[in-house]
Amino acid sequence: MQENDFDLDKFGINEGISETIVTTTNGWTLNAAPMGIIRKKDKTFIRLFKGSTTYENVVSGKLLVANITSDPELFALSTFTDLDDPSFENVSFDGITISTLKEAQSWVVFECVNTKLTSEAFVAELVPIRAHINKCRIKAPNRALFGVIEACIHATRYHLTGDEKYVKLIKAYGDLVDKCGGDSEKEAMKIIYEYL
Ligand SMILES: Cc1cc2nc3c(=O)[nH]c(=O)nc-3n(C[C@H](O)[C@H](O)[C@H](O)COP(=O)(O)O)c2cc1C
Repeated sequence: MQENDFDLDKFGINEGISETIVTTTNGWTLNAAPMGIIRKKDKTFIRLFKGSTTYENVVSGKLLVANITSDPELFALSTFTDLDDPSFENVSFDGITISTLKEAQSWVVFECVNTKLTSEAFVAELVPIRAHINKCRIKAPNRALFGVIEACIHATRYHLTGDEKYVKLIKAYGDLVDKCGGDSEKEAMKIIYEYL
């Protein structure tokens, strides 16, 4: 795959909201967290709510890497913990060094333009400046992966609000993971329960 071919479909970022793991840095510390990349026709956006490290890093650096992965444990770990340094890989081009996730199937580096800062969030249009495919693994959709992703989202809402309704939802997704998941999805669910 040509490194500068920016047809985002080829890198796994399609119309709608793609759940990616965004890697950023403040210059000395690396960070990874799940974030949705929004594509509407020929425009791509991100909305980052105040309070996260990703928000701080992107507001100051205006640069991010969207990593595409179907690894349930990476989604759970990056939601609640700081990934360790060996999880990342440095890539340099045009005088810029970025950090991607070693396990990503593909990644796209985006520059933020037409940015808007509100009292709650930072919204930016994203312009791809580099993209790469690492490996393509064929994997049939497994409902347990989506269960893990939904449970991670409800867990972040639970942390924000303390509302017990999110715990109920997480448990329902936990049942789905028990039924449909493999070891990796079950391990991810354990991580979620640990950090609730
Ligand atoms: C699947 C998924 C998608 C998410 N998408 C977003 C998003 O688009 N914008 C956002 O601000 N937070 C989003 N979050 C919440 C952040 O990932 C979460 O707040 C995380 O703890 C931030 O980590 P950080 O402080 O290391 O950046 C999402 C969470 C999940 C699980």
